[in-house]
Amino acid sequence: YIYIFIFLFIFFIYLFIYFHVGWCVTYSPSQICAIKGSTVDLQCNFTYPSKIDNIVTVVESIKWFTKGTATAPIDLKNDPDYAGRVEYGTGCTVRIRNIGEADSAFYKIRFKTNHKHGIYTGVPGVKLSVSGLKLNVIKSERRNNHNWTKMKCKSSCLPDQHPYIWIKNGQEILAESSSVFSYEFRDKEHISCAAKGYEKFPSPSVYVPKLPVVSLIPSGEIKEGMSLTLTCSSDANPAANYSWFNKNEKWPQYSIQNLTIANIGQQHSGLYYCEAINKRGSHKSAIHVTVFASKLDKAPVKGHFLYFMRFYILPKAIFNKLKKVSGTDFNASTLHLPPSDNNFVWFFLNILCYII
Ligand SMILES: *[C@@H]1O[C@H](CO)[C@@H](O)[C@H](O)[C@H]1NC(C)=O
Ligand SMILES: *[C@@H]1O[C@H](CO)[C@@H](O)[C@H](O)[C@H]1NC(C)=O
Ligand SMILES: *[C@@H]1O[C@H](CO)[C@@H](O)[C@H](O)[C@H]1NC(C)=O
Ligand SMILES: *[C@@H]1O[C@H](CO)[C@@H](O)[C@H](O)[C@H]1NC(C)=O
Ligand SMILES: *[C@@H]1O[C@H](CO)[C@@H](O)[C@H](O)[C@H]1NC(C)=O
Repeated sequence: YIYIFIFLFIFFIYLFIYFHVGWCVTYSPSQICAIKGSTVDLQCNFTYPSKIDNIVTVVESIKWFTKGTATAPIDLKNDPDYAGRVEYGTGCTVRIRNIGEADSAFYKIRFKTNHKHGIYTGVPGVKLSVSGLKLNVIKSERRNNHNWTKMKCKSSCLPDQHPYIWIKNGQEILAESSSVFSYEFRDKEHISCAAKGYEKFPSPSVYVPKLPVVSLIPSGEIKEGMSLTLTCSSDANPAANYSWFNKNEKWPQYSIQNLTIANIGQQHSGLYYCEAINKRGSHKSAIHVTVFASKLDKAPVKGHFLYFMRFYILPKAIFNKLKKVSGTDFNASTLHLPPSDNNFVWFFLNILCYII
């Protein structure tokens, strides 16, 4: 048995070599890290037997693909996810523009020759990793009377020692350095970083929170007993933390963005401040809250009672009485017309009302 096994093994190796010798695809480089938004060129070289059965081999087509199976690939040119972004170059190259994170994949080619079985797929392909740049504030520190902000630029696929450039307000290059950089911010300055070689695709920038926008919910007149929410938001990177306090600083400090005061009272009237703070600095905005007395509570109970008697109970009683006396079928809805209405029934009822 062992001999049969060895024989079969050698036979299969022979078959493998027979069908594969001379067929080869190499991708160079075999791994690519691209920054989001940039353009990449994928390249490969392939070889094939120059003659099969004495017929000269001619390459008929090359397809780059990421999806589909090795035998039924979806050509990048026909893949809607790459619409308008793919351009085949000479030989075995393809250019993909405006790379997004969803483009991370293994890119392979399949080429076809004039021979019936002369089709070959180069696996596993070239690995494309796509990364946006992240700019993190590590810490702010005070040294020699200066406030330094230490930042780190990060890409998920570039090597750590890759050089970075540091950009002020989107244009001015401050420095070229490693991925860590310390800077003394002045107000309104925006700092971003970019990987060297990808200067056009910088990270989001870091800045002091913008002046917060504050508002009240609900927005109309505020009455005692209501629930009031004070909202605050500020454009900031890194994202801001918020706190609310009132003019006397008496209001307890809240580390929340939106402050809700349930069952508000007139003692809550006054100025409120929202402060948006991040590791770069802070900004404050104020809003005035005026709490009005609730009208329902202030109106005399006696008034409601009289109103109720005069416009509801009495007319109804009289109406019933009239109905009995005259036998006329009045429309009940006329009874609820306001006194200003010129309706004769109403007028008549009111007169009767005073007489009774
Ligand atoms: C591919 O071919 C080109 C030119 O024929 C050559 O310069 C390059 O080194 C080759 N790359 C690989 C990975 O074989
Ligand atoms: C530095 O930061 C402190 C608080 O951390 C602040 O009071 C001071 O004004 C800042 N100095 C400058 C020059 O920004
Ligand atoms: C605060 O209110 C704003 C505006 O209504 C809203 O966009 C934000 O998500 C709220 N924040 C929280 C933490 O609820
Ligand atoms: C914001 O709040 C978070 C969580 O409470 C805290 O870790 C962070 O240091 C705060 N940032 C600032 C700038 O205060
Ligand atoms: C009573 O009032 C309603 C609506 O005002 C009207 O549609 C209806 O015709 C009235 N009926 C009589 C008997 O007047």
